[in-house]
Amino acid sequence: MLRGFPPTRIVVLLILVALCTCALGQSGDPAWLRYDVVKEYSSALPQTIAIVGTGEVLRTAGSELVRALGTKPSRQGGVAALPAKNALVLGRWKDVHPLFLFPALKPPQALAEDGFWLKTLQRKSGKYWLIVATNDRGVLYGTFALLRLVAEKKDVSTLDEVQNPSTPIRWASEWDNLDGSVERGYAGRSIFFDGGKVRADLARVSEYARLLSSIGINACSINNVNADPKILGQDFIPQLARVADAFRPWGLRLAISVDVSSPKTVGGLSTFDPLDAQVAAWWQRTVDSIYQQIPDFAGVVVKADSEGRSGPSQYRRSAADAANVIARALKPHGGVMFYRAFVYNHHLDWTDPKADRGRAAFDYFHPLDGKFEDNVVIQIKHGPIDFQVREPASPLFGAMKQTSEAIELQVTQEYLGQQRHLVFIPPMWKETLDFDMHVDSGVGGRSLRRASLAQGRLKAVVGQTPVKDIVAGKVWNRGLGGYNAVVNVGLDHYWLGHPLAMANLYGYGRLAWNPDLSADQIAKEWTELTFGTDAKVVDTISQMLLKSWRMYEAYTGPLGLQTLTDITGLHYGPNIESSENNGWGQWHRADAKGVGMDRTVATGTGFIGQYSPEVQKIYEPVEKCPDDLLLFMHHVPYTFVLHSGKTVVQYIYDSHYAGADEAATLVTEWKSLHGLVDDARYAEVLKRQEYQAGHAIVWRDAVVNYFHKISGIEDAQGRVGHYPNRIEAESLQLAGYAAVDVTPRETASGDKAIACAGQTSCSASMRFDGKPGKYGVSVRYFDQNNGVSHYELFVDDRLVDSWAADDHLPSDKMDGHTSTRHTTVGVELKPENVVKIVGHPDGGESAPLDYVELTQTIVRERP
Ligand code: GCU
Repeated sequence: MLRGFPPTRIVVLLILVALCTCALGQSGDPAWLRYDVVKEYSSALPQTIAIVGTGEVLRTAGSELVRALGTKPSRQGGVAALPAKNALVLGRWKDVHPLFLFPALKPPQALAEDGFWLKTLQRKSGKYWLIVATNDRGVLYGTFALLRLVAEKKDVSTLDEVQNPSTPIRWASEWDNLDGSVERGYAGRSIFFDGGKVRADLARVSEYARLLSSIGINACSINNVNADPKILGQDFIPQLARVADAFRPWGLRLAISVDVSSPKTVGGLSTFDPLDAQVAAWWQRTVDSIYQQIPDFAGVVVKADSEGRSGPSQYRRSAADAANVIARALKPHGGVMFYRAFVYNHHLDWTDPKADRGRAAFDYFHPLDGKFEDNVVIQIKHGPIDFQVREPASPLFGAMKQTSEAIELQVTQEYLGQQRHLVFIPPMWKETLDFDMHVDSGVGGRSLRRASLAQGRLKAVVGQTPVKDIVAGKVWNRGLGGYNAVVNVGLDHYWLGHPLAMANLYGYGRLAWNPDLSADQIAKEWTELTFGTDAKVVDTISQMLLKSWRMYEAYTGPLGLQTLTDITGLHYGPNIESSENNGWGQWHRADAKGVGMDRTVATGTGFIGQYSPEVQKIYEPVEKCPDDLLLFMHHVPYTFVLHSGKTVVQYIYDSHYAGADEAATLVTEWKSLHGLVDDARYAEVLKRQEYQAGHAIVWRDAVVNYFHKISGIEDAQGRVGHYPNRIEAESLQLAGYAAVDVTPRETASGDKAIACAGQTSCSASMRFDGKPGKYGVSVRYFDQNNGVSHYELFVDDRLVDSWAADDHLPSDKMDGHTSTRHTTVGVELKPENVVKIVGHPDGGESAPLDYVELTQTIVRERP
């Protein structure tokens, strides 16, 4: 028996020495789990790994270390005592502690569930690196954290660090349909489902579980919130159990979205009234049967009474009734019920100046505070509308003192360029998480804080109730709460399409773990893990990431206009008026005189009144309201002067020009890394940055022309409507091509384009009469998804360039989604040269052209 300790339970020590050279099947990109640097610096850690315990997740942690560190053949097996020489020791603290002869040894801070302690210590001749936790999952998280330190070349020779997660609930959600498509997914088909079933091959699911686990995500809901009731069919649950089996080694628990009508649609009852006893019994039976097959099932997500989904309102019942009937069935098993606050009427009367979708979540859920079972968590989108490029924090965060809350974020870039544009979202999330709701934290929160202050243990935090503390349950002492992000990875090699988009998934996990991390830290850390520690690479990519959200906002919808995309369709390219004249309520209310939604208490919809008095003071007075959110909160004339000193309309012009210029700099910055990142990822990112630079110009022109036309106010810098180097396609000399209208009008330069209909090829040409020299020739065309047209660029019948319209853009029409620019650089031109474009249509795509421009690069500062 060890001195000073009571007899311990028998522990199994499994010793691994370095790695077998077995091939690890990896079909998706390893993302941030690359380990090249770790292998190089593997001598920083011992080669012997002692696992104390038998759990599957502990073994995963051991294998991950072996995979990251070693190259030599392995020996493994059970032993009775700690190795005498240096070793990594992994296990639960209660099992590991007795093996050391230091009874007084304890973590410097209490370990929470999933938290871990990294600790080095010397015992006799051996030095030990302890990775200990209260549960096996914590040990795995600690393992990933240690490997991260090595990958970043940090000193790991002396460690004494406890890390606890900010909150117990850190989920990912996938909006996958059972047929294998992914709602708002931009990276290929589902890794989970195909043809109405769970996929036979779940290799990518295991790989994904590993990625999620490495950033501390502990559950994943795998199907669309617009849930197919079939997911609860008795034949489907065993299939779900296979996914849970693939998740389990990584400490990841399975969750699903369910439809509240399931008792009727799947169960064959005549009702799904949540207060009906038979309905309650059906939920209980169904949930019991899930737990029989998936004992660690995490819980469910529900979308109800929203965007045409069935809901309790059909029986005049409340969201609390609907949530509670399912929550009660989950409770005996420890399951969590996420009820989404995304409930609103999408048939609002747009002529009613008081109507406001932004109010809906608060109006609906605030009166229900205190009426939910304690395993219900209300899942609140970070803003009051719907993942727009800029929104204030949802006022609902500050309005549910007796209800657990979670913040819903979107990693998939539905309104943020759909992973064709680089947008690093953590800076935006940070603004919401750090936003102080100025709510009264009541007896449980604020007075406790005062007491703590009095004892000198806390800094001056009284009155600070940021969203991150509310969702962590700290403000009102809630036991649950946390984070859920819609990720929507797919079978695409890079998981999310754009290789750099994975920084958003990484950033999400890291913020859910520790929302106090800065966006800069996250960008740097992710870059080091994903591309290595070369200073130029790290600086360049971090900077590209960090400027990208504000840049995207600048050329899409600044000043709180929201993303000016087509609200009723694909949510991708520009379509400024699509939000108006309909009931969806994402109105910007631009007219001839002014723009913006009046959400004031004094004259508007009263939305601002849903915030605490302190926050109202920020938004209600138009002269105080921050410029970034001005048009979200107020309707003002175009000539209204911002804090920046510019008028609203001039700001819109300047912002779009500067944003589009900045998008072009991403190309040059990325090119400066040629040879410093591997060729495959270099080429993949370059292609996307070049596309983004062109599409940013499409956005710029559409928005500035729209506001120029509607306001009638000239751009003080004379750019809008004047394109000295641009020749409209309809004014070229056409052979076969004919002018056509484009919808929306502002997505074609000069309001028109040309199409080659019913011919095998057409041409458009011009005689060059400028100064002789080298030019960039930019051709704007429409790359639809119903054909692959080919284009050729000739100078005096000499072929200079050719390309295919073969991108996978989401529309089969000439519009803001398909408008694309192709630039040929270094074209030698002299007067009298004939520049000619020949288009070869294909399928439904008529080799359409919009304009030709002789490009120059001018960089403007963002206002
Ligand atoms: C957005 C999205 C929908 C989704 C919905 C939701 O509106 O476009 O596809 O179903 O959000 O969050 O429920």
